[in-house]
Amino acid sequence: MDGHDLVRSVRTIGAAGAVRGVRTVRAAWRRRRADASGLPPRGAERARVPGAVRDVEPAPGGGTVRFNRAELRIVVTVSGAVFWGWDGAGPEPSYALAGRCPDPDPRAVLEPDKDGGWRVVAERVTVVVSRYGAIEVLTPGGVLLRRDLPPRWWEPVGGGPARWMQRSEVPADARFFGLGGRAAGPRLRDGTYRLWNTDPGRVFGPGDDPLYITMPVQWVVAEAGTHLVCHDSSWDGTVTVREGEEGAGSGHDRAGSCEVRMDGGPLRCWVVVGSPARVLLVWSALTGAPALPPAWALGHHHARWGFGGEQEVRRIVAGYQERGLPLDAVHLDIDHYDDHQVFTVDEDRFPKLPQLAEELLREGIRLVSIVDPAVKAAPGNAVYDSGVAEDAFVRDASGRLVRGVVWPGEAVYPDFTHARVREWWGGLYAERLGQGFSGFWHDMNEPTSFNAFGETTLPRSARHSLEGRGGDHREAHNVYGLCMARAGYEGLRRLVPEERPFVFSRSGWIGMQRYGGTWSGDVGTGWPGLRASLSLVLGLGLCGVPYSGPDVGGFDGCPSPELFLRWFQLGAYLPLFRTHASMRAGRREPWEFGAEVLEHARVALLERRRLLPYFVTLAHLARRTGAPYVRPLWWGAPEDRALRDCEDAFLLGDCLLVAPVLEPGVERRAVRLPRGRWYDTVTERVYEGPGRVVVDAPLSRVPVLARAGAVVPVRGADGGVELEVWAPAPGRTGGGLVVPDAGDGWDEPEVERYVARWEGRRVEVRREGDDEVGEPGRPVRIRGLGGPGGQT
Ligand code: GLC
Repeated sequence: MDGHDLVRSVRTIGAAGAVRGVRTVRAAWRRRRADASGLPPRGAERARVPGAVRDVEPAPGGGTVRFNRAELRIVVTVSGAVFWGWDGAGPEPSYALAGRCPDPDPRAVLEPDKDGGWRVVAERVTVVVSRYGAIEVLTPGGVLLRRDLPPRWWEPVGGGPARWMQRSEVPADARFFGLGGRAAGPRLRDGTYRLWNTDPGRVFGPGDDPLYITMPVQWVVAEAGTHLVCHDSSWDGTVTVREGEEGAGSGHDRAGSCEVRMDGGPLRCWVVVGSPARVLLVWSALTGAPALPPAWALGHHHARWGFGGEQEVRRIVAGYQERGLPLDAVHLDIDHYDDHQVFTVDEDRFPKLPQLAEELLREGIRLVSIVDPAVKAAPGNAVYDSGVAEDAFVRDASGRLVRGVVWPGEAVYPDFTHARVREWWGGLYAERLGQGFSGFWHDMNEPTSFNAFGETTLPRSARHSLEGRGGDHREAHNVYGLCMARAGYEGLRRLVPEERPFVFSRSGWIGMQRYGGTWSGDVGTGWPGLRASLSLVLGLGLCGVPYSGPDVGGFDGCPSPELFLRWFQLGAYLPLFRTHASMRAGRREPWEFGAEVLEHARVALLERRRLLPYFVTLAHLARRTGAPYVRPLWWGAPEDRALRDCEDAFLLGDCLLVAPVLEPGVERRAVRLPRGRWYDTVTERVYEGPGRVVVDAPLSRVPVLARAGAVVPVRGADGGVELEVWAPAPGRTGGGLVVPDAGDGWDEPEVERYVARWEGRRVEVRREGDDEVGEPGRPVRIRGLGGPGGQT
C-alpha cells in the first residue's frame, strides 16, 4: 500500500471520498491477514505425470485406464459428449451441469490400440489414449482434432490441492474462441487468458482481461472439424493459446497449442465434436437450456445510474413517448436504494415506487431493479439482521464474518453456495415485487470488494458451503455469481410461479444461462469499447449464454453523436438492447445527440420493434437448441478460413447478417459473406457469397443482409405477426421457423415451419404440418423480387 494506491482507490470508488478509501485499504489488509492465517503456504511440491499404462477396466461408454501414477476414466455419453477425468474425478458434483451426467453410450467400447494404447470408438468421435496418457480426439474418419499431452500435477508435499497443467495441440489452421466474455475476442489470439471472474474496477476495453465472466470453455474451429472443450473446474487458472501456422506448401505446419493451468480442482474434461449447431445442442443439453426472457425483455431498455427520482424517470419515459420512440423497460440502479442497501428504497426520491411501476406498466413499460449481493454490515439493517439470524454470510477460517467494502460501505456477503442461503435470499425478492419490479439486474457479484491494491474480491481463505462439501473462496469465487443467479431465479419462481423470471447478471459461470443472461459490464466509451462489446456477446453465446448486450454508448464519458448512434444501431440487433451509463457520464437519451441522431435512433428502435417476433423466435430456439441469437459468421461453414477470421459482423439467427459500423467516418464497409445469395434488407440489392462485398453503411443505418429464402417473422402494422420472405435464389427453396410469443408464463408455443419455393414466376410460402402442407395462415410479404414493394 502506498499513497498512490490509496489515491487510486479513492478515485475508483468516486464521490464517497477519503473515508471509503481508508476503508478499502483496511479491507485489503484484512484480506491479507485472513489469507495468511487461513491458507497454509503451499510449501514444497512434488511433480507427477501419469507414467506408463498398467491395466484397463472397461465400463459402459468406455472405462478406466490405469497408469503407474494416475488413472483416467473415460465415458462417452448418449448425448454424444465425451467425459474424461483423472484420478477418480467423475462428472459430478459440478456447478456446470444442469442435472445428472447423461447415461453412458453402451455402444462405445474401450479396445486396444496400437503401441500399447487404448481407444474408445463412438459414433461421432474416437478417443485414443496413448501408453503414457496422451489423449487424442479424432473424427470418425480418423482426422486429428486435438491431442492432449499427458497432464502434469504439482502436489504439495504436506498435502492440499494439487495444481495441474494440461497442454494440447490443435490443427495448424485452428482458431480459438470462447473462454466466457472476453473483450479481446471473438477470435482469441495468442496470449494468456485468466480464469478468475474480475471486476476491473474501472471501464474496460479490448486490452482488459479477465472480466466479469470467465469460463474454462474453449472452441477450437479448424478445417478438420469443430470441437468444444470444457475443463470443469471452478478454480483460478489460465489458458494460454497459440495459433498454429500452415506451411502452405512451402514448409511444415506448426500445430496450434493450448495450455490450461489450474491452481486446484479436479482435472476433468468434456469434449463435444460436431458442427457448431450440434456442439451447442449437446452443450446446452449438458449445462442447461437458456432461460426464456419475457418478450418485453427483447425490447428496448433504458437504464441510468443516478436518476434524480421518480419525476426524472417520468420525464425520460415521456421523452421517449413524445418522440415516438419505443421503450419497454426502465432500470433503477443503486441510487434508488436507501443508503445503498439492497432491498430498500430511498423514499425521499422514490416515495411511491409501486404507483410509478403501475403507471409505467399501463404504458407497457417494465421496471427492472439492480440487486447487489453485498449487505451493509450494520445491526438494525433488516437484511443484515435476517442474514445473521439465518447464518447466511461468508465467514473466514476462524469463524468471523468476512467483510468487504462495496457501495454501502462495510459489507458482508451471502454464501450462495449453500441451498439454505439461496432460499433465504430468494425470499427477499418479495420486497422488490412489492415495489412493482418485473426484472432483476444482478451486479457486483464477482463478488466485488473495493480494494486499494491487488484483488477486488474476498480473501481466498473465506469459507463456503459448496453444497455441504465445504471449501474456500479459491473454489467458490468463480461460481458465486452463478449461485446468486440461481438464488434469485428460484426465489422468483417460488414467489411468482406463473411467470418466467427475468434475471441478468454481471458475473457468472458455465450454466448461468439456466437462470438468465448477462450484460457486458462497464465498457469504456470509445470505438474500441464498441468493438469489445460485440466480442463479449459472441464469446458468451458460444459458451452457452445467448442473452446479453452492452451498455449502449459505453459506461463512462460522453460518446460523440456518431459513436452513440453506431452503438445504438449495433445494440438494436443484440439480444439485450439497453442504454446505460455511470452517474458521472453524459446523458444517453437518444435525443441528447442532435436531431439527426435522434432520427436514425428512431429508425433503429422501430426496426427492433418490427423484428420482435424474430427475436422471440430466436429466444425460443436458443432455449430448445442452445443456438445463440448472435452467431459468428462461420456458424454454418466453420471450414471457411476467411469467415473464421471475420470479427466485425455476425449472423442474427439463420436469416440475417448484421454488419455493424465499428469505426468512425465509415459510410461504406466490406462484408465477408457466407455461401449463398444475400439481400441488402433496405435496398434489396443482391449479393452472392461466398466472398467479400462492399455495402453502403450510411449514418442512417448499419447494413443488414437477409439470406435468400429466409422467412423472417416481423410485427405488422396491426401488431400481429407477418412473414417477411426473401425470395429464394432461382431454382432454390427456402424456409424458416416461427415461434409465436405465448406470454410471460410457461406455455409452450408450437414451432411453425414454413417453406418458400418458386412456383413459376411467383414465390409460394406454405406452412408444413405433420402430414400436410397448408396455407401459411399469416400475412406474407415477399421481398427481393427486384421491385420496390415486393409481392404480397
Ligand atoms: C457497476 C455496474 C454498473 C452500475 C454501477 C452502479 O459499475 O457494472 O452497471 O451502474 O455498478 O450500481
